[in-house]
Amino acid sequence: MSDKETIHRAAEIIKEGGIVAFPTETVYGLGADAFNPLGVARVFEVKRRPYFDPLIVHVANPANVKKLVKETPSNAKKLIERFWPGPLTIVLLKEENIPDIVTAGLPTLAIRMPNHPMALALIKESKCPIAAPSANPFGYLSPTTAEHVRDQLGDQVDLILDGGSCPVGVESTIVSFLEEKPMLLRPGGVSLEEIESVIGEVGTSPFEDRPTAPGMLSKHYAPRTPIVLDWSEKNLDLYKDKNVGLLVFQEPGNDLKFRPMEILSKRGDLREAAANLFAAIRRLDALNLDLIVATPIPEIGLGRAIMDRLRRAASKGE
Ligand code: TXA
Ligand code: MG
Repeated sequence: MSDKETIHRAAEIIKEGGIVAFPTETVYGLGADAFNPLGVARVFEVKRRPYFDPLIVHVANPANVKKLVKETPSNAKKLIERFWPGPLTIVLLKEENIPDIVTAGLPTLAIRMPNHPMALALIKESKCPIAAPSANPFGYLSPTTAEHVRDQLGDQVDLILDGGSCPVGVESTIVSFLEEKPMLLRPGGVSLEEIESVIGEVGTSPFEDRPTAPGMLSKHYAPRTPIVLDWSEKNLDLYKDKNVGLLVFQEPGNDLKFRPMEILSKRGDLREAAANLFAAIRRLDALNLDLIVATPIPEIGLGRAIMDRLRRAASKGE
């Protein structure tokens, strides 16, 4: 089948209340018609996602936001104009007609317009907004290839659209507009710096006590293999009897005895590092190591999203 035919089939499935995995510029999503509570329930079931964790609704046209939320503050409009389609999700007060299962009973809705031709074509052909979390089992890393989805959810999904690797590689940035001051709920594919250059200061809070997107449990995005972030020569010594893999930002200068190693970006480019992050961790996770040791990454631009995911992957909390 051609891409066009496959997308057509996928849209039919969505319209019938089925679930489809599809590529976006950030990660693969697992989508259902946002107005079909049974379809959305299947997404939760397949992911084993707790029902208290709301989904992002994806639209193909910014004009459709009006139908889904009560009001769009001017700063939210500015971000939409600047960053959509793109890796930015905004949280606003929802309209009554959105099924409760989508928002986990919250009065608010998270919305974004993805920047991927397959995602946009799917939403347009389905003729409905698509509610979609990342297409991974709850708590695990998000998939950035169709293969990742097939490996973990394959037979439980009605169809997987294959659009190759996701170019951004980390999930969307989430900004909430429920209070006077916009709040960053999750760092992601659009950097905080870029957002603040458009709307001024955005509130953030540290990893531990972020008022949270409800689903931002501290332990999340986690591979099976334990990850530690406390990189130092001393620690390397500590781990010398263990079967350790390394996840490094750039080509390491010092002489490291540990193998295997994943280098996120040889030239030290944060965008490239983000695009490689989840696939690199998955490759290490497949090796049955005792431990993955990750080097810290500069927390500017996309580095903030990368470190957020690494801290969560490394967290021992639930
Ligand atoms: O890039 C992305 O955002 C990807 C692609 C598929 O679009 N989606 C994604 O969805 O990462 P998911 O479900 O894995 O993460 C969505 C996050 C969760 O932490 C959830 O708690 C939060 O968004 N969220 C959803 N609705 C919310 C709301 N009304 N208020 C606050 N947080 C919300
Ligand atoms: Mg997710």
